[in-house]
Amino acid sequence: MKDEKKTSRSPELEGEEKREHGKNRDHGHDREKNREHGRDKSREHGWGRGFGRRHPGEVTGKYQLKDPKNFLEVQNLVVEYSSDKKIVQAVNGISFSLKKGETLGLVGETGAGKTTIAKAIMRILPDPPAKVKDGAVFVGGRDLMQMPEHKMLKIRGAEIAMIFQDPMTALNPLMSVGDQIMEVVQIHNHYTREEALEHTCKMLEMVGIPRSRSVEYPHQFSGGMKQRVVIAMALACNPELLLADEPTTALDVTIQAQVLDMIRDLRDRLNTSMVLITHDLGVVAETCDKVVIVYAGQAMESGARNDIFLNPQHPYTKGLFGSLPKMDDDSKRLSPIKGLPPDPTDLPRGCPFAPRCPKACEACSQDASIPEVEVEPGHFVKCLFAGKEDA
Ligand SMILES: Nc1ncnc2c1ncn2[C@@H]1O[C@H](COP(=O)(O)OP(=O)(O)OP(=O)(O)O)[C@@H](O)[C@H]1O
Ligand code: SF4
Ligand SMILES: [Mg+2]
Repeated sequence: MKDEKKTSRSPELEGEEKREHGKNRDHGHDREKNREHGRDKSREHGWGRGFGRRHPGEVTGKYQLKDPKNFLEVQNLVVEYSSDKKIVQAVNGISFSLKKGETLGLVGETGAGKTTIAKAIMRILPDPPAKVKDGAVFVGGRDLMQMPEHKMLKIRGAEIAMIFQDPMTALNPLMSVGDQIMEVVQIHNHYTREEALEHTCKMLEMVGIPRSRSVEYPHQFSGGMKQRVVIAMALACNPELLLADEPTTALDVTIQAQVLDMIRDLRDRLNTSMVLITHDLGVVAETCDKVVIVYAGQAMESGARNDIFLNPQHPYTKGLFGSLPKMDDDSKRLSPIKGLPPDPTDLPRGCPFAPRCPKACEACSQDASIPEVEVEPGHFVKCLFAGKEDA
């Protein structure tokens, strides 16, 4: 009966769930030691399901790690989808980096390429239609784009986990939440059933769900609790890098705050590095050390949180801040950014923001690509007027 339930899941979902879940026996303590043992003990065959059709694309290994202190270093990542004989240019040469224990916010409008970036880091983009055309993703000093799949199987789950955007689709409605976490725990550890159950219950308790509820099914949980279960599954592997894709967007404000507090607390306790994908600049202000403002698959502006919040330079970043309500200023109306993001199958020449930019001039649409300028240490802006008077 149990097997029947499992086969009812889509192979892709099943593969993704497995990839995001863990294999280290303890979380928080002796992580390095456990990871060494965990690698040796991992059952690669279980992790292998659903991966056969994925490969690194056409990247060539021409990139070098720039700073060994970076735990994550994404360089010039380019991803395309083929769709109806058109090419969707989803990610167009984005670069960013993250040190151990840091949190980086990837912020941008819908369709900016945020989820594609996260899936490219995990190397779980479906190929076809997705193709990584260029770039490098260094995690712990190794370029994942050059990694053979059998090595990726060990890295996914052990070192990188992802909280998927939609908790409803990340859970199997036909299995109890406990079984779903336990399945993963057992695949990646030589646990007895009792040990795996105990580990599962501890993970549930860690995210504030009583162990007695492990026998319940997803439909018996509220949206916020389902999101907690998904987080427990992602953290069951005690990952060093957590990719959290809009982990609170589907939740109401009170639950959002609780879930964010919990993620922050877990991150601090486990010294996890985190890429937090969000539309919400308030969440970024409270949670992130660094920020990357993404538009049309490019980093328009990036830097330390305070640089971006206190000294935004790019017209798009300024537009995002301008569209937020201000408590101390009730005289002005909100000024949303006019227009829509460009069609990714037909990106404009030069700056992709030009059609919406109040400062656009002819030169902005002439250059094949706009250079990135470091306006202060670690603060990069992709605009022709960056660093110039009245930028
Ligand atoms: N499987 C796919 N096939 C074709 N195009 C796709 C596919 N997945 C994503 N895209 C396109 O790639 C672009 C980037 O999508 P992505 O999901 O990465 O954006 P996002 O920033 O995560 O958006 P959102 O904030 O809505 O989640 C979009 O134009 C999207 O339509
Ligand atoms: S390059 Fe030109 S269009 Fe682009 S953001 Fe700068 S001023 Fe605006
Ligand atoms: Mg997304």
